[in-house]
Amino acid sequence: MTAKELKQKYLEFFEKNGHTIIAGAPLVPENDPTALFTTAGMHPLVPYLLGEKHPAGTRLTDVQKCIRTGDIDEVGDNWHLTFFEMLGNWSLGDYGKKEAIEFSFNFLTKELEISLDKLAVTVFTGEEGIPRDEESAETWKSLGVKPERIAYLGREDNWWGPAGQTGPCGPDTEMFYWSSEEDAPEVYDPKDKRWVEIWNDVFMIYNKKVDGTYEPLAQKNVDTGMGVERTVATLAGKSSAYDVDPLFSITVQVCALFNTTPEELEFENIKPVRIIADHLRATTFILADGVTPSNVEQGYVLRRLIRRAIRYGSELGITSPFTQQVAEAVIDLQGGFYKELREKRDFIMEELAKEEEKFNATLENGLKKFEKLKVEGSKVSGKDVFILFSTYGFPVEITRDLAKENGWTIDEEEFAKEFAQHQDLSRKGAEQKFKGGLADNSEVTTRMHTATHLMIAALRKVLGEHVYQKGANITAERIRFDFSHPEKMTPEQIKQVEDLVNEQIEKAHPVSCEELTLEEAKERGAMGVFESKYGEKVKVYTVGGDSQVKDAFSKEICGGPHVQNTLELGHFKILKEESSSSGVRRIKAILE
Ligand code: SER
Repeated sequence: MTAKELKQKYLEFFEKNGHTIIAGAPLVPENDPTALFTTAGMHPLVPYLLGEKHPAGTRLTDVQKCIRTGDIDEVGDNWHLTFFEMLGNWSLGDYGKKEAIEFSFNFLTKELEISLDKLAVTVFTGEEGIPRDEESAETWKSLGVKPERIAYLGREDNWWGPAGQTGPCGPDTEMFYWSSEEDAPEVYDPKDKRWVEIWNDVFMIYNKKVDGTYEPLAQKNVDTGMGVERTVATLAGKSSAYDVDPLFSITVQVCALFNTTPEELEFENIKPVRIIADHLRATTFILADGVTPSNVEQGYVLRRLIRRAIRYGSELGITSPFTQQVAEAVIDLQGGFYKELREKRDFIMEELAKEEEKFNATLENGLKKFEKLKVEGSKVSGKDVFILFSTYGFPVEITRDLAKENGWTIDEEEFAKEFAQHQDLSRKGAEQKFKGGLADNSEVTTRMHTATHLMIAALRKVLGEHVYQKGANITAERIRFDFSHPEKMTPEQIKQVEDLVNEQIEKAHPVSCEELTLEEAKERGAMGVFESKYGEKVKVYTVGGDSQVKDAFSKEICGGPHVQNTLELGHFKILKEESSSSGVRRIKAILE
């Protein structure tokens, strides 16, 4: 069965059972500032799992493109992927455990015709305050699953969510397929890797709150997820997601770049080929959703994926630019289902060419330098890592990868210290400059600075999440601010941004500042440059909300300084909106 057939069968089965087929969401979450990418089918549905009414009803099904970068280091093994497709069906306060499990059982045994003998399941064993899930176990038994094929496991295995820091979550029941040609053992052993998980039914009946406690949800939901690549490969008797399409054909394309085939591939080249296939597939999809490579947020992840792929390409001896050819293969294979790939083909190709050209020069110099390093006691010194980074522009994660391949580690602590020192020096420099330039009028510019935070938050609200700061120049006379946006703003949009900013000013919000680690800042959904702040605490300025919560009006990593209260800003006005460079707009604004 191909991926296309599985998706079709799944959607048809659930449609037949009263579910509405909905469109999957883009990879960049539209309503969740706490996450960079959509990580699961339920992710775009969070508001509806929390009780908001979904226009398509209470039974939904879809296929959702997802990105998970948490296990990026594992990519290249048989199963880990950064981009994957997830099938799902949802009950929004409609059916409960029994019916959800019956749907799963019928789909697996009747539609996919999997013999019961090859199936095992796990259910939640319970913990203080949350009962053992006997209802699920009883339902499985009533359908013919033998008790010895049911394992009760704890939170590590049988609890899912929330997708971000807070939100809907609950116990789950997972389904496993016996992947070996040998007969399946009578008794299910969760440690036996030949049992491969293919589906997860989550009973989202709790809401995790900011303080870490759980409250029962008024609306009892079901959220299920089946990984397409994994299921297709497993059912085809393969032991890797790369052995079936679309990934197989993408690896064929990667292998062709250095005149080989997946079958003839030398063992040590398997991992690099898979990493290239995975990363460039993810890249093609991320670009298709309008993200461009940069040093912040989604753009930074994208840049990292592209650069990692190029680096592994150079390791395989591929000397000419190749990312476009792999992207072409992705578009050919998946552009039928995901129309955005074809629509954005030109944009994808242009961005890849630009990034590849930029990075190749860096890579060449950095690799030469790396080869000359003197490494003592299998640890690359933090100083060397820092020099590679600061002088050669060599990304730290690539130094880390290279070190790993040589059986070395990098001195993370020393690197962090070097970095912090450098940051300190450049900050002192910046503060000096700042003071120098402001000698006459520092108060005005401080106000402009805070207004700029409000403006970028307002721009993102009015124009969308693709808006990022590309440059800012603040004098006592005006704010000049460059940001990513593909077209001219309409007079209405300009007015909306002005109104939003002035509305916040008039609310007399205090401006709060906190020192957080980068991780904490990210977790709280702060905007800002993440790459260059390695290993140090950053200041996060919050306006219009509690710094603990994610939906503050503005939350940015910034060196400051800022006013104490928005009332000090006066009245905000945009004087001009014009093009700055391709894909970048420029605003000139003042405070009156
Ligand atoms: N949200 C669950 C998962 O991602 C089920 O869809 O596995």
